[in-house]
Amino acid sequence: MKKYLVIGNPIEHSLSPKLHNYWFEKNNIDANYDRRKIDKNEIQEIINEIKDNKLDGINVTVPFKTDVIPFLDTLSEEAQITQSVNTIYMHDKKLVGHNTDIKGFELSLKDTQFDLNNKSIFILGAGGVVPSIIYALEKLGVSKISVSNRTKEKAKDLKKNFPNIGLVDWGDQAEFDMIINATSLGLSKEDEIGLNFKNMNKEKLFYDVIYNPKETNFLKTGKSLGCQVSNGKMMFIYQAFEAFKLWHKVKPKIDDELKNFLDL
Ligand code: ATR
Repeated sequence: MKKYLVIGNPIEHSLSPKLHNYWFEKNNIDANYDRRKIDKNEIQEIINEIKDNKLDGINVTVPFKTDVIPFLDTLSEEAQITQSVNTIYMHDKKLVGHNTDIKGFELSLKDTQFDLNNKSIFILGAGGVVPSIIYALEKLGVSKISVSNRTKEKAKDLKKNFPNIGLVDWGDQAEFDMIINATSLGLSKEDEIGLNFKNMNKEKLFYDVIYNPKETNFLKTGKSLGCQVSNGKMMFIYQAFEAFKLWHKVKPKIDDELKNFLDL
């Protein structure tokens, strides 16, 4: 039986085991997917389990997506540019780090049918997933990306890798066609972003990376202003879909039965 793992801290909330194990069953794959809460000093030991054939693949979540990089032999271009790895596997006797968050985000945007061409994007947050979001948006041909983060230093660090982004002080607003909440504000139901939006309309999209709760106050605000809204459910499902394809060479089905099963 093949063995897979998602590592992070905290990890209890991760729905990846539920999703991958569901797809194993549906595709008759003899494998098991588990979660493990780890500390940073355990990363090397766990990654070595792949080399020792005790594990077949690892997904990485917050806060280790960059910390795993020194222990890998090679990175995909996406992982290299974003310095963010969420999927690890062996290929040609080498430990490979890849980033499926980018494709996950991209496919989730496709689902919204929002036309990104020449649009202005305003990103709130500068944490683990933001390099992947910027990479995907630049590839999709948006005209301008602005980033605002409470700790400005972290936004400035992002600019080293993505020099074309604009930086906005926390609390200020950039003009946007699409606004993305990539902060952890909203994980608690009462969390508020604290921005006052003016001149909103149905052409604008509010996107929240958070999928639990399904509708954050940020998305409620977007909805009440008549804008389009999307939560992070499909990004989560599609990043797993891409990892599954890589590991098992099978395209798992994404349908209503799956979405009901995940209860997202
Ligand atoms: P990490 O920062 O470890 O990558 P993350 O969950 O990916 O973790 O990112 C959390 C994001 O939410 C960060 O952008 C964080 O801002 P800081 O860089 O200033 O910490 C943001 N965030 C979390 N709590 C916040 C709050 N109360 N107000 C504003 N931003 C907050």
